[in-house]
Amino acid sequence: MTAQERRFEPGEAPDAAEALAMDEALLTELEPEAGRLYDRHARVAQEWFPHEFIPYRLGRDFDKEPWTPDQPRLTGVAQTAFEIGLLTEDNLPSYHRLIHGMFGKGDGAWINWVGRWTAEEGRHAIVLRDYLTVTRNIDPILIERGRMAQLQQGYDHDSPSTLRGLAYVAFQELATRIAHRNTGRYSNDPVADKIMVRIAADENLHMVFYRDILGAALQIQPSAAVRAIVEEVLAFEMPGAGIPNFVRKATQIAKAGIYDLRVHRDEVLMPILKHWRIFELEGLDGAAEEARKRLVEHLEKLDVAAKKFEERLVASNVPRIASAG
Ligand SMILES: [Fe+2]
Ligand SMILES: [Fe+2]
Repeated sequence: MTAQERRFEPGEAPDAAEALAMDEALLTELEPEAGRLYDRHARVAQEWFPHEFIPYRLGRDFDKEPWTPDQPRLTGVAQTAFEIGLLTEDNLPSYHRLIHGMFGKGDGAWINWVGRWTAEEGRHAIVLRDYLTVTRNIDPILIERGRMAQLQQGYDHDSPSTLRGLAYVAFQELATRIAHRNTGRYSNDPVADKIMVRIAADENLHMVFYRDILGAALQIQPSAAVRAIVEEVLAFEMPGAGIPNFVRKATQIAKAGIYDLRVHRDEVLMPILKHWRIFELEGLDGAAEEARKRLVEHLEKLDVAAKKFEERLVASNVPRIASAG
């Protein structure tokens, strides 16, 4: 615990003006660490080119030979998972607006990170769309109409604080890494798998940046950070939640083992929570202790729900993969 952190009792929270002042102070205090993590990211991130991943030899003109439903090699859940993956990546303008609003302060490391992150994310929709279009694995009219609907609707996950925003993106980047990686494996297509391995490597580095900057915030404001992390775990929703028929599609994706409650709890929430040593932190204020109890209860409930889901699946004969993480 550092001297500047104010302690809160359960049920007590800072008012809006105080919360804003805490955010500004925190972003300023974290800026040197953001700079260090940005430099580390720039050293390890590999440059890559979407065009090198696309089998252009398979391409045919759509005006001469329109898309028909018998053309895709990917079918069923594999197709659905690619559609959700692409539409999620397509919504980058909304994510950029939110990330810029939360962290894009000043003219130093934070804004550099926001720019770099946005540019890297842009590649994901490019490579996915090119792959799906050239291979005819999804109706190109459907994905373009989906993109239009998705972008016009936008995406809102305005976090009430910097700490909550950082917690969300840390979990979300890892969730996306695993969903993409498992989508590639499920597809049974070496080209698709290679693309998804490449995207997943980006998402992993994004997760590592956010995880570690929030790790630094935990040193500065441990109680506030724990409260924010718990609130985000309890409220977590995938960024694709606004896609039409998302619930039905997400259920198919879960049944296929691409992203289900077990993956969410054991491969997304737990590794990051353990990395932050959330369960071992000492000296937290009353409100953070109370939040941590709710977190433990929530993780137990998720475990029970995941077991029930797995038991129900035994009876069905949906093809399923074991997550590669
Ligand atoms: Fe991405
Ligand atoms: Fe990412």
